[in-house]
Amino acid sequence: MHKDRPLAATIGCASPNREVSQPVHPLISAKTMSNSSESAANTNQPSVPLLDVSRDNQPLREEMLAAVADVYDSGRFLHGPDVTELEREIAAYSHTEHAVGCASGSDALLLALMAMEIGAGDEVILPSFTFFATASAVWRLGAKIVFADIDPVSYNIDPAAIEAAVTPRTKAILPVHLFGQCADMPAICAIAQKHGLRVIEDAAQAIGAAYEGRAAGSWGDVGCISFYPTKNLGGCGDGGMLTTNDGEFAQQLRLYASHGMQPRYYHQVVGINSRLDTIQAAMLRVKLQHLDCWTEARQKNAARYGQLLLEAGLTDQLQLPASHPGSRHVWNQYSVRVPDGQRDALRTWLAEGQVGSEIYYPVPLHLQVCFESLGYSKGSLPESERAAEEILNLPIFPGLTEAEQQRVVARLSEFFTHRSASAA
Ligand SMILES: Cc1ncc(COP(=O)(O)O)c(C=O)c1O
Repeated sequence: MHKDRPLAATIGCASPNREVSQPVHPLISAKTMSNSSESAANTNQPSVPLLDVSRDNQPLREEMLAAVADVYDSGRFLHGPDVTELEREIAAYSHTEHAVGCASGSDALLLALMAMEIGAGDEVILPSFTFFATASAVWRLGAKIVFADIDPVSYNIDPAAIEAAVTPRTKAILPVHLFGQCADMPAICAIAQKHGLRVIEDAAQAIGAAYEGRAAGSWGDVGCISFYPTKNLGGCGDGGMLTTNDGEFAQQLRLYASHGMQPRYYHQVVGINSRLDTIQAAMLRVKLQHLDCWTEARQKNAARYGQLLLEAGLTDQLQLPASHPGSRHVWNQYSVRVPDGQRDALRTWLAEGQVGSEIYYPVPLHLQVCFESLGYSKGSLPESERAAEEILNLPIFPGLTEAEQQRVVARLSEFFTHRSASAA
């Protein structure tokens, strides 16, 4: 399909056998796939997609289809051995004792809260600058969402804002490791400990990330992972997983994920049906073997943007993303800030030049219509609002080529040159 472009295999991703080795975490050692088709003008240049899932998946085609065929032949479409194996592998990868598969990252969040018996009368503190699922899980259970503002550099929830939001009704803190970078977990865990709160990590965008040598999903009581196709470990459909070091809690999660049923047809609690399909698990096991390689490619791309944007003299016009020293940023997104109200014009300019970009997220959750009754208004969370006005996400997927990155930067550069020429 993309014969003219290098495949993942050529950026150092070998194609190991399905049976081979368990991956080792290297620590201690759009929903639209592409928005380039929206572009208006034909610049006679090949387009640069925001994301090209097929390009990254293509070299694994045979292995993936073989994995699907195995499950197909086994007939064990649910609760097959690949699910158990993937749970074991993800637990090891995330440096936790247990992992429990479920149907999506959204369900992982819901199950974590359900298993903690969080509901009416309880408050949960979370960021407003995140994907909707972080908040909807809390809402759905009748608990009160308490939004805390973000740190303007990392875009992650600000521990000082969490501390200020704690009340006697607070039951849990729900930090999000946004764009592939861990929130300040030492500070968050210290607040949780001080006030006796549970911690649920939304690690949907951050599998493989770490903060000060400790993996995302291993800091709190539980970590929630998404296998949505655009995530760093993306499936071929929906899927999710929970990580925890608490064996009893893992059992509770399994109970809630299977209608609260134990034994069969005897229901201990009112749970939901949330399963990771065996076919998804089998394909994710193939992809997990390549995750570290893809993460390295993302890190390389991020470093290259830093260099190219500096060389182009754009670091005054754009605020580049920063990664916390000593942390492992896995770059699910590469987000620049475009100040002075120029973001939307820049995005249009990129689209006209066939360069994909996206705004994650244009409206912070405290200003969403569905959460109006919570009583927030414009100005309630200034940093979340400023981020929503200024952020722009550029292509960073593993198979992105150097030439494509150069084109992205050249197009950015033209925008500012053009602007200053017309202002003169
Ligand atoms: C921060 C965050 N939380 C939760 C989710 C929900 O994951 P899923 O799409 O697998 O339900 C996502 C994924 O879009 C996400 O980005």
